[in-house]
Amino acid sequence: MTPHDTADLDELRQSVADAPERVASASSIAELDVVEADLVGRSSPVGEARKGLGEIKDADQRRATGKAINDIATDLKSLVDARRDAVASAEQAATLMSDAVDVTLAGRRPRRGTHHVVQQTTDEIIDIFVGLGYTVATGPEAETEFYNFTALNIPATHPSRHESDTPYLDYGDKDEEILLRTHTSPMQARYMEQHDPPTYVVVPGKVFRADAVDATHSPVFHQLEGLAVDDGITFGDLKGTLASFAKQFFGSSTKVKFIPHYFPFTEPSAEMHAYTNGKWIELLGCGMVDPAVFDQVGYDAEKVTGFAFGMGMERMAMVRHGITDLRALLDADRRILEQYR
Ligand code: PHE
Repeated sequence: MTPHDTADLDELRQSVADAPERVASASSIAELDVVEADLVGRSSPVGEARKGLGEIKDADQRRATGKAINDIATDLKSLVDARRDAVASAEQAATLMSDAVDVTLAGRRPRRGTHHVVQQTTDEIIDIFVGLGYTVATGPEAETEFYNFTALNIPATHPSRHESDTPYLDYGDKDEEILLRTHTSPMQARYMEQHDPPTYVVVPGKVFRADAVDATHSPVFHQLEGLAVDDGITFGDLKGTLASFAKQFFGSSTKVKFIPHYFPFTEPSAEMHAYTNGKWIELLGCGMVDPAVFDQVGYDAEKVTGFAFGMGMERMAMVRHGITDLRALLDADRRILEQYR
């Protein structure tokens, strides 16, 4: 319908008389868009009225009618715009409310990590020896045949040199094979070469053997080496030191005994056994440093004596905590590891 006179314009106004209520009842931007299209869109009464303006032949009348339609449209548009502002801020406020973080809610506690029980054992044992006046040193895991065997008085024919026991690396040459150290004892020789006596040192570290994994073996495990060299060190010092260590680590009622053994680099040599948890358990190897080793590293075997010992960290952890299968220490199973905080 195209308004051609005042009556027609009144009719147009009449058709949008309920615009304030319709606009007010739109409660979202989407609803308001629909209402706006109904009021001033192309196929709304206002839109239809505009389309017909061309039918009015009299230019003055066409201009006047056009202006009247525009005034109606402008009024409707400002109604819609005002409502749009109100709805937009209400929607924003609602979003802020629903996105709000309640800082008073109880938090989720992150899982707390811990050192592995073998690391804890190593740290604790190091602390005990540091308390006795020892320093701490570390050395290479890839070692020469010389330091792993020869410097330690281990004869060229000794079975431990065989590939069935020792992991050799495809590196070095025939005269100087490179291997993964099978014990921390090579650091005895390396340390004495670098430091004059008196020598009190412990050496923690990884060692490697050509073993398969079972309840008591692993191709990689950890040892702690100890070495004490000074004027007049005796086997009594060895026993006193290691007995004191056992009491500090396993408990003050721990008894120890020394059983004769053989190591090429100590003479005499012994195994220390400890009585804990109702039975005797072999704990470590030890002995008085063989003069042949002093000769290798340039210490005067006429002037100094000393003792050395080597112990397995996994073994210490297992005896201390009553763990019967070594594999419990190799698995990354948190249910097991979390028990040793
Ligand atoms: N290196 C020996 C082993 O791995 C232990 C040991 C160290 C024995 C020092 C005597 C002295 O079995």
